[in-house]
Amino acid sequence: MCGIVGVLGNHEAAPILVEALKRLEYRGYDSAGIATVNGGTLDRRRAVGKLVNLGDLLVHEPLAGKSGIGHTRWATHGEPNVGNAHPHRSGPVAVVHNGIIENFRELRAELAAEGLTPSTDTDTETVAMLTEHHMNTGLSPTDAAIKTLGKLQGAFALAFLFDGEDDLMIAARRGSPLAIGYGDTEMFVGSDAIALSPLTDRISYLEEGDYAIVTRAGARVFDAQGTAVEREIRTIQISSASVDKGGHKHFMAKEIAEQPAVIADALRHYLSPTGDINLPDPQIDFATVDRITMVACGTAYLACLTAKYWFEQIARLPVEVDVASEFRYREPPIPARNLALFVSQSGETADTLAALRYCTGKAARIASVVNVPESSIARESDVALPILAGVEIGVASTKAFTCQLTVLFLLAIKAATDRGEITPEQREDHLSQLRRLPSLIAEALEQSDAVRETARKLANARDVLFLGRGPLYPLAHEGALKLKEISYIHAEAYASGELKHGPIALIDENVPVVVMAPRDALFDKTVSNMQEVMARKGKVILISDREGLAEASQGVWDTIEMPDVSDAVAPILYAIPAQLLAYHTAVAKGTDVDQPRNLAKSVTVE
Ligand code: G6P
Repeated sequence: MCGIVGVLGNHEAAPILVEALKRLEYRGYDSAGIATVNGGTLDRRRAVGKLVNLGDLLVHEPLAGKSGIGHTRWATHGEPNVGNAHPHRSGPVAVVHNGIIENFRELRAELAAEGLTPSTDTDTETVAMLTEHHMNTGLSPTDAAIKTLGKLQGAFALAFLFDGEDDLMIAARRGSPLAIGYGDTEMFVGSDAIALSPLTDRISYLEEGDYAIVTRAGARVFDAQGTAVEREIRTIQISSASVDKGGHKHFMAKEIAEQPAVIADALRHYLSPTGDINLPDPQIDFATVDRITMVACGTAYLACLTAKYWFEQIARLPVEVDVASEFRYREPPIPARNLALFVSQSGETADTLAALRYCTGKAARIASVVNVPESSIARESDVALPILAGVEIGVASTKAFTCQLTVLFLLAIKAATDRGEITPEQREDHLSQLRRLPSLIAEALEQSDAVRETARKLANARDVLFLGRGPLYPLAHEGALKLKEISYIHAEAYASGELKHGPIALIDENVPVVVMAPRDALFDKTVSNMQEVMARKGKVILISDREGLAEASQGVWDTIEMPDVSDAVAPILYAIPAQLLAYHTAVAKGTDVDQPRNLAKSVTVE
């Protein structure tokens, strides 16, 4: 949700800011803008829509200056128009903001009492107005900004720039992440380290409530109480290449194709050649765990739903799964022997983080499965398990999902071992299936051209249903979610057995039904449900293995063949056709695959 960047540099800031914003565009793309200070004069440029529009504007109306801030927006308050685009300015103050200022109405009322009226619909403008107001009472820019921070409620990351100040930027973090980058007589701030990766690899992260006074000489950091603090500067490794499309047409295509490699990396990391599962300290002893509470949002939530089947079937460990936005306000009881497990690609999702904080001090142990090891969720967990998927840029999650599943599967095997619920033979069988996964996924990816043909037909549909049973049921949801996210086709998922309890009323010759059905123990039951669809002229796309297709493909509209795989590992493999189907359908429809409308990759507001 919104990306922010700042630079106090030795070169023209505008191109540096725009380049950094490109790396943050996954956080929102409703509008973009930059402000610079040039010879003491503050000025800004803003444009609606994708960053490319700001680039065009800057060609015609360039902005000089070596100090600047920039923003890419996912609109919360106020529609995406130029007036509501950041940076927001009030007199000598320019501000970029990620998050929500929850008390902005009260603050506006206070300003109105002083005769000051806003000119935008945003909460952010209030921050700039308040700071100008404080400066008008005689405070320095720094003191004025600090006083403003003391009045703000909500979750935010902010960067301030001031007219007349070529060597000053104030950065603050409360609820939304903010990284500070240390260069050679240059300083940077950014919503994440990826934004800053071509500029510097020396990064520190502000902690909750911190603010920083940044000049070219460095950053002085203070905590929420105003006490000077040291925040560790780490050398991080994010290759600039990792945010390239690598010859693919879209980031999503690249990320789909990377799955054999990143899953192999994750397996190498966690699974020794002799079959030991190596987890980071402190170790979780599942023999002392009575129940797992899993919480997440979006695709990560669907990874949790899948893992529930594994933990319960393989490790005989009860699991409760909830979406974070419901969990956090339901105030569920957390028995003491509960493991609270949070799954998040970004590690910054506001609701998941809030749910984690609710469990802190209640659950026996807080664990997380994350892609960004420096993220808030990772840092606030007792133990964080990285999924090692690498940077994921496409808004629709693909490789992060299958890496999450891989790590969760290993965790379920570890739980089964700790609890004495698995024989050495069963354990070895599961692990050897998992070791085959990278090559099975590579094989599944070879179906891409065939899936493209299926997708051409699917692109004409208005509604699509996805069906699955057992661990393939959450995957049916993932297939439907992917399709609606990027192709804008209405898609719903149902447990195959639920079909006749309502959704079958939707079936006619215009409704394609994607059935995910490996030839597993439940196959015959799913095929019966599929027949019920076909009897009502529904168009079935059957995704199964060779044996399953040989048995059940008569009369179906289309088929997609997957390699043979064990029942337990099937949901990870069957994620591939679900992703390919959504991807090729979106391409056929000509939608924006990597940046679908209204969405953002990292949801740092409620
Ligand atoms: C957004 C993204 C999804 C993601 C969800 C949770 O909705 O578009 O792809 O699954 O947030 O994000 P997280 O970073 O917590 O996994």
